Amino acid sequence: MKLAGKVAIVTGGAQGMGRAISLRYAEEGAKVVVADLNREGADGVAQEITAQGGEAVGTGVDVRNAAQADAMVATAVERFGSVDILVNNAGVIKIIPFLETTEADWDFMFGVNCKGVLFCSQAAARRMIEQGRGGKIVNLASQAGRRGEALVLAYCASKACVISMTQSMALALADHRINVNGIAPGIVDTPLWVDVDKQFAKLLNMEVGEPKATFIKSIPLGRIEQPEDVTGAAVFLASADSDYITQQTLNVDGGSWPS
Ligand SMILES: NC(=O)c1ccc[n+]([C@@H]2O[C@H](COP(=O)([O-])OP(=O)(O)OC[C@H]3O[C@@H](n4cnc5c(N)ncnc54)[C@H](O)[C@@H]3O)[C@@H](O)[C@H]2O)c1
Repeated sequence: MKLAGKVAIVTGGAQGMGRAISLRYAEEGAKVVVADLNREGADGVAQEITAQGGEAVGTGVDVRNAAQADAMVATAVERFGSVDILVNNAGVIKIIPFLETTEADWDFMFGVNCKGVLFCSQAAARRMIEQGRGGKIVNLASQAGRRGEALVLAYCASKACVISMTQSMALALADHRINVNGIAPGIVDTPLWVDVDKQFAKLLNMEVGEPKATFIKSIPLGRIEQPEDVTGAAVFLASADSDYITQQTLNVDGGSWPS
């Protein structure tokens, strides 16, 4: 087991990739704090883990709120005694043409995808520094952060921001032996993409399901990514196997993007 004795917090853990990472971390021996705006969903995933013999607790958090991020870390410490791993997975997307992108759209995506990463990372890093034995922060970026898309400006920019924040945080925390790395998934079969498909279909005058099918055709490995496909990289970047790796964002996207 790669994460035995570690305490991990996974934001956005109620569904999709956050759920898959939470379950896999528990299998690898970590005690998991499943944190989400959807408290009921977070509790459900924590129950799934305990039913399988693991240790987990669900907690409610809005990652945009610094006090709530602090409370999330406090929950981990109260319940399990430390924080060793933080996965900044909570994220939101809206598909909107450039000229129609409003301040509210921008603030929504940057609020969760970037400010949330800042506040949760600060809260966890303060605790990791106090503990004095290093730590791991893993940020969910996206292939959308590697390039622009006409209908996805704010989300692409927010994920490019996550890649940049990963680099700055890695440098800021290197002296404390806290590794900060990212994962850039491709098109992942989660509730998020069900919604993305509908939004693209409306904007492009396509049938529901058509945008997803079109995008899948361009994936070199020939199939849509499953939430479980990111869990290997998430374990690696949270484990001692990646102790000499920091500042990196790893593409886990079926070969869609070269670097
Ligand atoms: N699905 C994809 O194709 C894809 C691709 C690349 C990157 N990503 C990124 O990976 C991450 C996970 O994506 P997913 O597809 O599993 O998403 P999802 O929508 O299925 O799950 C996201 C979770 O985040 C939670 N959340 C949203 N706002 C929150 C907030 N303010 N505070 C706390 N929790 C909040 C939601 O309640 C939900 O449980 C996101 O950061 C997303 O941007 C997704």
